[in-house]
Amino acid sequence: PHDVDGDLEEILYTEAQLQARIAELSRQIEIDYAGRDLLLVGVLRGAVMVMADLARELRRDVEMDWMAVSSYGSSTESSGVVRIIKDLDTELQGRHVLIVEDIVDSGLTLSWLKANLESRNPASLEICALLRKPEAEKVHIDAKYVGYDIPNAFVVGYGLDYAERYRNLRAVAVLAPHVYS
Ligand code: PRP
Ligand code: MN
Ligand code: MG
Repeated sequence: PHDVDGDLEEILYTEAQLQARIAELSRQIEIDYAGRDLLLVGVLRGAVMVMADLARELRRDVEMDWMAVSSYGSSTESSGVVRIIKDLDTELQGRHVLIVEDIVDSGLTLSWLKANLESRNPASLEICALLRKPEAEKVHIDAKYVGYDIPNAFVVGYGLDYAERYRNLRAVAVLAPHVYS
C-alpha cells in the first residue's frame, strides 16, 4: 500500500515543470505587488506544497497565514458544503491578500472563500491557483494567477489527495481509475 507507481495513470507535470511554472508566476506577482505588503493565505491542506514553493520563490518578504476548509472529505466529488476547520489568525482589513490554492475544480470552495474573505475588507484580494479544470467549472472563479488548465481527470500529488493519500508526490499525476472505482 505504500508503493504508488501502479496507482498512477500518467504524470501530468514533473517536479521541474511545476517549479518552472511557479517561478514564472512569482515574477509576475513580484511586479504586481511591488511596493506593497503582501499576505499569502494558503488553503489547507492541498495548498501546502504550492504555498511553500511559491513563498520561497518570491524575491521579497511576504506574510503567510493559513485557513483550513474542506468540501471534499474522502469523496472524489465536491459536495459544495464548505466548512471552516481553522480560520485565519490575521486581520485582513487594509491588507493585500493573495489566496493560494492547489486547484480550482468546481470552483465552489474558492467562490465561497473569496466572498468570506472579501467581507473582511482587505485592500485587495486575488487568487493564485496552480491548477484549474475548466470542464469541471460550476461557478466561475476569477483567478489572477493560474499555473495550468488541465483536463477533467482526477489528479493527485503536490498537495492534492485522494482520501488523504498521494499528497507528498513531487509530481502531479492522474490517478488510475482502479484506485477509486
Ligand atoms: C480540494 C482542493 C481545493 C478544492 C477544489 O480541497 O484542494 O481546495 O478541493 O475543489 P472545488 O473547486 O470543486 O471546490 P479539499 O476540499 O479536498 O480539501 P484538502 O485541500 O484538505 O484536500
Ligand atoms: Mn483544498
Ligand atoms: Mg482533498
